[in-house]
Amino acid sequence: MKVTITDKKGCKVNPNMIGLFFEDINYGADGGVYAEMLENRSFDFFPTKINEGNSPLIAWSKVGNAEFTSQTKEPLNEVNVQYAHIAGKNGEGIKNRGFDGIFVEEGKKYDFSAYLKGNAKLKIEIKSGDKTLCEEILESKGDAWAKKSCVLIATETACDGELYITFLEDGAADIDMTSLFPQETFKGRKNGLRRDLAQVLHDLKPGFMRFPGGCIVEGNGLENRYKWKETVGDIETRKCNWNRWQDADVGIFAPEYYQSYGLGFYEYFILCEDLGCEPLPVLNCGMGCQYQCKEAADDLTEYIKDALDLIEFANGDSEKSEWAHLRAKMGHPEPFGLKYLAIGNEQWEEVYFERYEKFAAVLSEKHPQIKLVTSSGPEPDGEKFDKAKAWLSDKDENFAYMVDEHYYVKPEWAFKHTDRYDNYDRTKTKVFAGEYACHIGDNQPKPNNLLAALGEAAMMTGFERNADVVRFASYAPLFAKDGYSQWTPDLIFFNNHDLYLTPSYYVQSLFAHNLPTFTVGLEREEDGDVFMSAGYDEKTNEYILKIVNKGGKKDIVLTVPIEAESVTETVLTGETLDAANSFEDKMRVCPKEIVRKVGGHEIALTAEKYSFTVIKIK
Ligand code: AHR
Repeated sequence: MKVTITDKKGCKVNPNMIGLFFEDINYGADGGVYAEMLENRSFDFFPTKINEGNSPLIAWSKVGNAEFTSQTKEPLNEVNVQYAHIAGKNGEGIKNRGFDGIFVEEGKKYDFSAYLKGNAKLKIEIKSGDKTLCEEILESKGDAWAKKSCVLIATETACDGELYITFLEDGAADIDMTSLFPQETFKGRKNGLRRDLAQVLHDLKPGFMRFPGGCIVEGNGLENRYKWKETVGDIETRKCNWNRWQDADVGIFAPEYYQSYGLGFYEYFILCEDLGCEPLPVLNCGMGCQYQCKEAADDLTEYIKDALDLIEFANGDSEKSEWAHLRAKMGHPEPFGLKYLAIGNEQWEEVYFERYEKFAAVLSEKHPQIKLVTSSGPEPDGEKFDKAKAWLSDKDENFAYMVDEHYYVKPEWAFKHTDRYDNYDRTKTKVFAGEYACHIGDNQPKPNNLLAALGEAAMMTGFERNADVVRFASYAPLFAKDGYSQWTPDLIFFNNHDLYLTPSYYVQSLFAHNLPTFTVGLEREEDGDVFMSAGYDEKTNEYILKIVNKGGKKDIVLTVPIEAESVTETVLTGETLDAANSFEDKMRVCPKEIVRKVGGHEIALTAEKYSFTVIKIK
């Protein structure tokens, strides 16, 4: 096959184009990247409309014959209204199961803390079965809530730890807002993130992060929606919400899934800083999830105020604005430099358009520098999508800088639509490919295999070739806890002590690490199995060619407009299209790099069978 890269300069590529979609789905936040090890740490779970029997004591159980009840009479504060009362004899008390066990490592330190009231001498232990892995003593005195803490050092490594709080003498105490955190978190942050999971986000080199979802932005209904204001400030004043994915109609049923909001908007902004990427928050537009309900608020005052206040929280002057003052109080006096804001997650049709227009009118007048993002609904084509397109056809970038398009599609669809953006109107609203993944089969779990990854890579060559239209792109969803995922496929799988990366992760990472500064001309022979994009990187002075080959091995003769010195080929491939990674075989499909010397304008290349290859020509 003959391929020619020409020096015809195309469009500039957004260096931040490839990003992350973060949602607390599949136990991605609580029990996932948020490093808190205790489930229901604040005895705040409650019956939900999905699971009416849920109790405030979920994840906890009695040790011995202790008295253990949920109370509300003298709460820690007016938000955190539930707490527990424990009473018992020496050796009795309560224990927490963690998120399916607590993982501790020998020699590592863990910070335990709790608010206590009453007179009691308590032993704090992490145990694996009957074996004590670490212990400390805490004393509670008096009738006022007081925070007590200790450091536990594990003597052994274990995955099945439980946290015990037991009396050393007969006693009684009220207890609330317990917490167990590894001292080692990503970048050493207090109230921080699991180091291994956040590190692989960092390694992907994301240009932006969209948060906090996804459907949880909308909630199962408006009552359950994500309210960012309830996720900031001291963690003990953050009101626990139930997670809309309790109502998983796909994947694994999660009847006890809640959002502690320990990972809230402040932490999301901090994470963006730590990852070196742009924050892209998504706010509720006054509508519940249209799949679940028909709720749409008539009065948007509160919702629009939330958006205005968020801009203050992120960018305001801490001396002048209440919300910016809170940001400073939380530890970040400097603005976060918010540039993008999405209004509504995956909403559609007139009921949404009317609401978005009201937001846009206020926001574009008060904050014209903030680039707004709108939604085209859940599908990449069809009636809902067409209506959004028609609605946006006479609008400009001030009204909506980007429209969020979602594609959960079969690989065949992806291969067929790589030219999707070739003829898009370049003068109007740009595109945010905000959620995409190739789905194989109709049942859960859907595989994260090589075929899916090649479909995504093929689609992304179309994003890159049309980088003047597609400004941002993020695969979805991001995380899945093994055994707890309501939705597959996902980018990164993990359990309490380990993780593995999917072929799809490597595709995202290869694109993010190899974005050209601008696209260049590409002439090629037709071949329905092969998809390509080409560009030039001004920082490294390299041409970058990306080749997706979903068929058999291809020999390629590449002509380049320079005297080439060397090529670096990074190949992602596997023996079969259904090759996938797992905890047992993490590197079955992972990129391999070869560097070779070449000379002249013509380079002989091979596109391996079933492969995605990034070729950099010096
Ligand atoms: O990514 C999973 C879900 O897919 C998101 O929450 C939602 O936006 C979409 O329907």
